[in-house]
Amino acid sequence: MSAVSIAVFASGTGSNLRNLYAAQQAGEIAPGYLSLVISDKPESKAVAFAREVGLPVFAIDHKDAGGRSVWERMVIRELHKHHVTLVVLAGYMRLVGLALLETYQGRIINLHPSLLPAFKGLDAIGQAFEAKVAETGVSVHYVTADLDGGPLIAQKRVAILSEDTIETLTHRIHEAEHEILPKVVRMLCQIHP
Ligand code: GRF
Repeated sequence: MSAVSIAVFASGTGSNLRNLYAAQQAGEIAPGYLSLVISDKPESKAVAFAREVGLPVFAIDHKDAGGRSVWERMVIRELHKHHVTLVVLAGYMRLVGLALLETYQGRIINLHPSLLPAFKGLDAIGQAFEAKVAETGVSVHYVTADLDGGPLIAQKRVAILSEDTIETLTHRIHEAEHEILPKVVRMLCQIHP
């Protein structure tokens, strides 16, 4: 099976990036390998981690690049340079522009902390907590122009317990994300080498 070059977009704390990297080191996402980290937040923990472990990084604020569409064109060039065939959004927190969507159609996935289609958009964990629903969860889906609305690939349920605080719930959501994302990445790398 040929190797699959993966780019991770991350602009937050980067726990999913760390976890994917650990999975790679443990041989759990083969034939995929992380070849590039993209970020619009050069000061983020995700970027710091990528540099620490020596992953190639492209991290520029949209404003410093001269706007979103210029930034995106630069990103597409980087993705091609690293022969990226799978793009994983893990805490990028921005809408992906049309140029990138068209270039990587069917090969960009996003991790979202709710059971989509419930609780799309920002602060999905807080939305579920406030709504006092009995369960929420995590979803991995293909990215389309429809925010958090692309075809689902996998989901994992997380119960909301009566003693939960937003912190305990967030912790379990992240655990579920760390379980599901490497599995989906491996599966996609195996079926789309
Ligand atoms: C995750 O909850 C993911 O679902 C959402 O952004 C968060 C990123 O967390 N899209 P981290 O930066 O990987 O810790």
